[in-house]
Amino acid sequence: MKFFVDSADVAAIAELNDLGMVDGVTTNPSIILKSGRNILEVTKEICSIVSGPVSAEVVSLKADEMIAEGRKLAEIAPNITVKVPLTWDGLKACKVLSGEGKMVNVTLCFSVNQALIAAKAGATFISPFIGRLDDINLDGMDLISDIRQVYDNYGFETQILAASIRTLNHVTQCALVGADVMTAPPSVIKGLASHVLTDKGLDQFVKDWAKTGQSIL
Ligand code: G3P
Repeated sequence: MKFFVDSADVAAIAELNDLGMVDGVTTNPSIILKSGRNILEVTKEICSIVSGPVSAEVVSLKADEMIAEGRKLAEIAPNITVKVPLTWDGLKACKVLSGEGKMVNVTLCFSVNQALIAAKAGATFISPFIGRLDDINLDGMDLISDIRQVYDNYGFETQILAASIRTLNHVTQCALVGADVMTAPPSVIKGLASHVLTDKGLDQFVKDWAKTGQSIL
């Protein structure tokens, strides 16, 4: 499963990238707001660090304007993925932009039917939002596994990019049901290394080592 970082925090992305943890990056208008940066500048900086797909989202609601915005975003770097919303206009933009050879990430997906129609419109990635379904007492993970089954039934090449990941368990479940990609904030990715028994075990080793009176170096 590929790891994308769901952030425009350049320092955090660079730290994870140095460890080989970053296969790509996703952003959205809320993430750009949080960064306090200009979208074109921060996206260019991210693309100078990360060689994998970097999603930058259009903000217009009309297909023609989305296409124009997508073309401008795609000029930032060859690894830009244009992110469009899962609306009828977004699908029109997806069809045109993917026809031009650009990578397109169709976002705000909450149903199998939406994922199906995005694949037919030529999406490179489909972004089902797990956490936001969980927020309304639905099971976001069921959506990921249902899309997996439907895409596999018909050989769609659109990659399932599990988004709105909030917990470590979300990551485990995504890997078990076969999401192609998961995108998560840096804090969640760093949290994958943690286990309470690792901390406890290491604490004991440190104490016992001190009692030996030895030194390796
Ligand atoms: O990739 C989409 C993601 O940023 C949404 O996450 O936590 O705002 O639902 P969240």
